[in-house]
Amino acid sequence: MNKNSKIYIAGHTGLVGGAISRLLKKEGYKNLVEKTRAELNLENELAVQSFFEKEKPEYVFLCAAKVGGIISNSKKPAEFILNNLKIQNNIIDSSYKSGVKKLLFMGSSCIYPRMAQQPIKEEYFMTGPLEPTNEAYAVAKIAGINMCQSYRKQYGSNFISVMPTNVYGPGDYFDLERSHVVGALIVKCHTAKKENIKEITLWGTGNAKREYIHCDDLADASLFLMKNYDDGEIINIGVGEDISIKELAKKIKKITGFEGKIIWDTTKPDGMPRKLLNVDKLHTLGWKHSIDFDRGIRETYEWFKKNITLK
Ligand SMILES: NC(=O)c1ccc[n+]([C@@H]2O[C@H](COP(=O)([O-])OP(=O)(O)OC[C@H]3O[C@@H](n4cnc5c(N)ncnc54)[C@H](OP(=O)(O)O)[C@@H]3O)[C@@H](O)[C@H]2O)c1
Repeated sequence: MNKNSKIYIAGHTGLVGGAISRLLKKEGYKNLVEKTRAELNLENELAVQSFFEKEKPEYVFLCAAKVGGIISNSKKPAEFILNNLKIQNNIIDSSYKSGVKKLLFMGSSCIYPRMAQQPIKEEYFMTGPLEPTNEAYAVAKIAGINMCQSYRKQYGSNFISVMPTNVYGPGDYFDLERSHVVGALIVKCHTAKKENIKEITLWGTGNAKREYIHCDDLADASLFLMKNYDDGEIINIGVGEDISIKELAKKIKKITGFEGKIIWDTTKPDGMPRKLLNVDKLHTLGWKHSIDFDRGIRETYEWFKKNITLK
């Protein structure tokens, strides 16, 4: 890949695709192709085919997907499986047909078994039942991985699949329907502080542990793997450390200045009890994250205050 290579970032308006787009521009890549959903609905097979035939990108970052937190995953499993299968099928098949040199498929750590041994190694993939709250989304991701591997086997396509842990950072969602845990906590604590609300309620026990990667670190790792990884086996992208939702809530309380109480609604699910990726494979290849978590959430809160107007 060189600075004039034609690179298509599917999902460039999103958290991850946006970070990849910013990074590529900063690094001097000059020939980026980006289309909004209004310009190209990726669920539309014919539209995607004709886009690839016309544009003929050489490299593809497949970051477009229907993504959401535990609430929307629980409410809309049919949309999560159908939309994601359509988007990835269309892009992967059109990439093959139009001669894309390399494609990076953005998977997710939710493809691993619910009770996987921790930290989760790549080899634990498909060794046990999935977490039920996001099974539909995970099954779509698993199909995407298999598609990349099958196209590699049958056609020799250089399609790789990466499995990032939970992502946060500037550009995240801050509405309660679509946000992930960091965004949701920021909105809840910020609003409670502003409106002088004395207590907030959060889903679950707070004991579930999660790992978080800044979107700029994920972008950096993705570019690194696009340049340095040509294997069909999946590869984890994470930071190698996790914290409980309770500890995270404490950090965000402090950053937002919310001094009230947090009530844990234990009638609601926690999701997977723990989800920490083993990142030895990535470290051995020579990539490590660089953004400290406390710094990252402070920056994300500053970005939120500047850019988000709550209704
Ligand atoms: N966020 C995380 O914690 C996390 C963790 C692990 C893996 N991932 C994976 O990383 C990838 C990106 O996630 P993200 O957090 O960046 O999600 P996001 O912020 O929701 O971005 C998704 C992107 O996909 C686009 N998109 C969705 N459906 C589309 C359609 N039908 N036609 C055209 N564009 C469409 C969205 O466009 P609009 O702006 O029009 O909606 C947006 O640009 C996903 O594959 C996700 O599974 C994310």
